[in-house]
Amino acid sequence: MINSIRNQFPILKKRIRNRALVYFDNAATTQKPRVMLEAMDKFYRSQNAPVHRGVYSLAESATAEYESVRDQVKDFIHAAHREEIIFTSGATASINTVVSGLAETFLHAGDHILLSDMEHHAMIVPWQAAARRMKLKLNFIPLTKDGRIDLGVFRRMLAKHKPKFVGITHVSNVLGTENPVREMISLAHKAGALVLVDAAQSIAHAAVDVQKIGCDFLAFSGHKMYGPTGIGVLYGKKKLLERLPPRIFGGHMIEQVTREKTTYAPLPEKFEGGTPPVAEVIGLGAAISFIQGIGLKNIQKQENELTAYALRALKSVSGLTLLGPSSAGARAPIFSFTIKGIHPHDIATLLDREGIAVRAGHHCAQILHESFSLDASVRASLCLYNTTQEIDRLVSALTAIVRKFK
Ligand SMILES: Cc1ncc(COP(=O)(O)O)c(C=O)c1O
Repeated sequence: MINSIRNQFPILKKRIRNRALVYFDNAATTQKPRVMLEAMDKFYRSQNAPVHRGVYSLAESATAEYESVRDQVKDFIHAAHREEIIFTSGATASINTVVSGLAETFLHAGDHILLSDMEHHAMIVPWQAAARRMKLKLNFIPLTKDGRIDLGVFRRMLAKHKPKFVGITHVSNVLGTENPVREMISLAHKAGALVLVDAAQSIAHAAVDVQKIGCDFLAFSGHKMYGPTGIGVLYGKKKLLERLPPRIFGGHMIEQVTREKTTYAPLPEKFEGGTPPVAEVIGLGAAISFIQGIGLKNIQKQENELTAYALRALKSVSGLTLLGPSSAGARAPIFSFTIKGIHPHDIATLLDREGIAVRAGHHCAQILHESFSLDASVRASLCLYNTTQEIDRLVSALTAIVRKFK
């Protein structure tokens, strides 16, 4: 099974420094399966045309393909309406659309916003900019020592600050922690807040059902789920999206333009100003089909096995401290760690010499690192095509690095 999955990813055959590539930077971006590459190639070779505008056959068929991916995404995250699926350039753009729209229409000076210490900069920075503009108050949920959110603390912060908005990552891109979003959303709604779930790290690992979890908005990127860069999704409840102002103004998102004013197109076009990334949308559709072909249950099972194996194996590296939950439940296969006395960048550089690609730095989560009194960590992030043999290679390379630095 694993070999047949790996065979679908041409890049995994690559050798780096004369060693088989071990790609452990999947939280940053995943590699691409052949079906996705071929779908984009086929589009450009034989179907390329602008969508929505042409009356000729080629444009009509491109439009049909593009719009069929909207239905596919709707089913994939179990949204109630196809207009609730907005194509964006990525999770960052999706979050910015929600933040600027809410700040402009729903929020007032003095309103509180509740985020967590494990948020990606894509959630924190737009809110900081909006807070400065609008005089909003930002509050951050602190984390437990093992990198979780304590629901008791969350409840108390909801009661104390009465936030109008809660922004929460489904899975931390540093800790691998899976947050109990369903319970958190229900608590936040009872307290009167709207909730945006950042699903950038969960969408390729576990089933995300927007109606079941009850979120108001959800954001994710195509390139972290075996799809291309430059495409992402914003989901929002129809009633909320209808009230939210557009973020990108121009062609495609209008109903009528006069010298005096413009009326906007209905959903979803209102949020899709400009020529859309048609090939990327088609690539996203192929990536979703690829995930569905394997099945999210099978993916989760394989990744849970990898997680349990990695947690055990990393314990054998002397001086290694793992950030985040040390047990396999409610956790994605993302392992950030430090090794006493060795800088994360040195570790990543030395691992590269062994053909192992990991990330070193703050992983766009400086507040999280600060809360653990760190500047940086090493992150090995796995996904469905990784193997226990690759984890063994990481552990033996780390053991050799530790020995060298002694
Ligand atoms: C949790 C999380 N949110 C948001 C983002 C932003 O995604 P993108 O850069 O694709 O917009 C990332 C990317 O690393 C992420 O890990």
